[in-house]
Amino acid sequence: MTQKPPANQESGSSAYQLWGGRFSEQPHEALQELNISLPYDARLYADDLDGSKAYAEALMRAGHLNAAECDKLVKNLELIRYDWVEHLIKFEASDEDVHTVNERLLVELTGDLGQRLHTGRSRNDQVVTDMKLWLRKAIRETLGRLRQLIEAIVRQAEAHLGILMPGYTHLQRAQPVQFSHWLLSHAFALREDCQRLTELRDRSNVLPLGSGALAGNPLGIDRAWLAERLGFAGVTGNSMHAVGDRDFVVDFIYCCSMVSLHLSRLAEDLIIYSTKEFDFIKIADTFSSGSSLMPQKRNPDSLELIRGISGLITSNLTGIMMTIKGTPSTYNKDLQFDKQYCFQAYDKLTQSLNIAVGVVETMKVQRHQMESALSSDMLATDWAYYLVRKGVPFRQAHHHIGCVVALAEQRGVDITEVPLGELQQICSAFGADIASVADYGHNVQQYDAIGGTSTASIVEQLRLLKNLIKELRQES
Ligand code: ARG
Repeated sequence: MTQKPPANQESGSSAYQLWGGRFSEQPHEALQELNISLPYDARLYADDLDGSKAYAEALMRAGHLNAAECDKLVKNLELIRYDWVEHLIKFEASDEDVHTVNERLLVELTGDLGQRLHTGRSRNDQVVTDMKLWLRKAIRETLGRLRQLIEAIVRQAEAHLGILMPGYTHLQRAQPVQFSHWLLSHAFALREDCQRLTELRDRSNVLPLGSGALAGNPLGIDRAWLAERLGFAGVTGNSMHAVGDRDFVVDFIYCCSMVSLHLSRLAEDLIIYSTKEFDFIKIADTFSSGSSLMPQKRNPDSLELIRGISGLITSNLTGIMMTIKGTPSTYNKDLQFDKQYCFQAYDKLTQSLNIAVGVVETMKVQRHQMESALSSDMLATDWAYYLVRKGVPFRQAHHHIGCVVALAEQRGVDITEVPLGELQQICSAFGADIASVADYGHNVQQYDAIGGTSTASIVEQLRLLKNLIKELRQES
């Protein structure tokens, strides 16, 4: 059979267009330029082919193709995949998007038969299906990278259990904590990111294909079968909603943004801790850079890039939300930009996570510097608890210790150097055993409620994270 490309072609042109019967002229150059999404949606080629193969089978099941025709389409779609993988595809100026390219190639290979594939399907339900297939892989890979980072954190925390450091609030010295406790605090933020992504994966795992342009499918397509065939848990419930829905893209970019904010906060801690003033951490040479002018400089560029890129990742969230904001029901071309936001958020987060894993794995923990930074003013809270254990109401205890701190400050001495007699003048509950509250290591062990800084509590935190790692490993 002779190959008749669809209409709307200038005579002599071989341009393949998915629409155009009613047009007498080609789109203006400026429109074509903006309309073409191929440079950023080409990466959906495999998902598009997977969706098309399944759709060809659904057409056969519905009686619109016979078995031989379906087989021929499926085989040729695989040939097209091979060409993508081998970088053999030659794009044409008229290739609007990845769906156009795949269909053009199929028609080139199979003639009229290829033109049957789109029966009852619209690019509207096709593109959102492709995005969902892509998203499933992107979530799996992001979870894999999060797992690697959590593993790196857990390894460092476990290896350095028992090392003390000043804990900060408002970036002011607050209470002694264990280094591992601080480090694991970042893993717990990442744990929530994993939960968020898993929840999104499950919630969005419903198939839009079979929604047509907006009204649904009138050709007996078995959507439930298609869903199962493509690994979805079910089908979308309203075709008009399905074709215009990009909430799952917003959710994904939100998830990426949250991870990036968590990485940014980890980076900020590490930047501060790696300054000469703190010197708690040494960032490996492989993740530092020098200065072109000052020979002694060793800059934590890797961490600054992680901090900086979170701005870029998060900007995609505003971008996609603003894109969706004014669109009327169902599909509108504005939605084509979802891919640029989504892919940029994903790609930048991937880079950021890869660097974070490397920095954490290779950083050196400076025990001596951390423990020397502890000072007795950080014991004030434990002194208040000492009085509480002697029966003093906490508010009063807090006030008494405040007076002790003020007195020590006035004299330029540590609180531990105020004589017992004077302490007893401030509060009669003070006894000689107050001296035992001066041991940081011992104090830290008192914080044994779930989530605290005692070794027993940290071991429990490690257990929770190791369970998560195991779960994530099973999934990947
Ligand atoms: N490239 C388009 C996108 O990504 C495909 C959908 C086009 N649909 C349409 N009705 N023009 O959104």
